[in-house]
Amino acid sequence: MPTTLLLASDSGEHLCTAGLILKQGGLVAVPTETVYGLAADACNPEAVRKIFAAKGRPADHPLIVHLPDVSALADWAKDIPAEAYQLAEAFWPGPLTLLLKKADHVDPVLTGGLDSIGLRVPAHPVLLQLLNTEQMAVAAPSANPYKKLSPTSAAQVMATMAGKIDAVLDGGDCELGLESTIVSLLGADIQILRAGPVGQAELEQLLGQRVACPAQHQVKVSGNVAAHYQPETTLLRVSRDELAQKLTNTTQKIAVLALSPLPLTVTPHWHCQMPNDARQYGKLLYKQLYAADQAGAELILVESPPGDSPWLAVHNRLMRAASA
Ligand code: TXA
Ligand code: MG
Repeated sequence: MPTTLLLASDSGEHLCTAGLILKQGGLVAVPTETVYGLAADACNPEAVRKIFAAKGRPADHPLIVHLPDVSALADWAKDIPAEAYQLAEAFWPGPLTLLLKKADHVDPVLTGGLDSIGLRVPAHPVLLQLLNTEQMAVAAPSANPYKKLSPTSAAQVMATMAGKIDAVLDGGDCELGLESTIVSLLGADIQILRAGPVGQAELEQLLGQRVACPAQHQVKVSGNVAAHYQPETTLLRVSRDELAQKLTNTTQKIAVLALSPLPLTVTPHWHCQMPNDARQYGKLLYKQLYAADQAGAELILVESPPGDSPWLAVHNRLMRAASA
């Protein structure tokens, strides 16, 4: 693989280059409002196969297909229930992935051999422009090596994927910083399979029916693997009291993501004060875990956020990032 190009999203020429690479079967990391995605032309199975190789991701882990707009839904799914259109109309473009029955022509490489397919219209203007100009759909998992932290900036993609992909399209820092909510419309009950920026209450309010959010579910999704979204450094979730205790009388290099100001008596190797608002916290979580990794700490301590519903997606990611 040649050197990975860094393309600027405010350059028409660079956007054309990104489109050309995709059309020719290459891999381009693209910005979305959630995290950066590693895109390939969804209609080109050979190109899609390269995604799995670049990430080191098992071939049976399905990918999300990103569409230019809702009118493309019927090109990729069949037997689409009315609720899918209701959700698409309310939340697309946006951080909601719908699981539907795949259309017959869809190559199983995209779906990891499943009969279902994950679809969303992303809300990043640069990616939308690219999809609309090229009139294409792209398959795109998060642009990180398998099981590692999802990237929220072009620099973070470059740091872990350079040399493995053709280009990175720099669209700035991701607005939301956590992966999309995944909702399955496959069974009799509508279910959230991955908590994300669109919450259970919002979905229930729109649909006027209960939406299940099982803590554990049987469907095979790579985000459902227990150890996932992991930094390199061992990570522990701790209460405020445990945090103060662990930082006292230690010789370990500790990085801290704190919610409240640290006692003046402790000076960790690296620390950052996280926002008390769940959305703002989610936006910074991967960025700061990545920075903590870069700071060369031996241990990352994360002060546990509150337990109420706005924090569900954050807790879900922290649980999977934690080493124990
Ligand atoms: O916000 C996001 O969703 C980002 C951006 C790039 O769009 N994408 C993302 O993709 O997080 P990925 O592949 O890292 O995670 C998608 C999850 C995986 O856990 C995958 O297994 C699941 O979606 N998934 C996709 N298609 C599925 C299907 N047909 N059935 C069950 N799970 C599916
Ligand atoms: Mg991922």
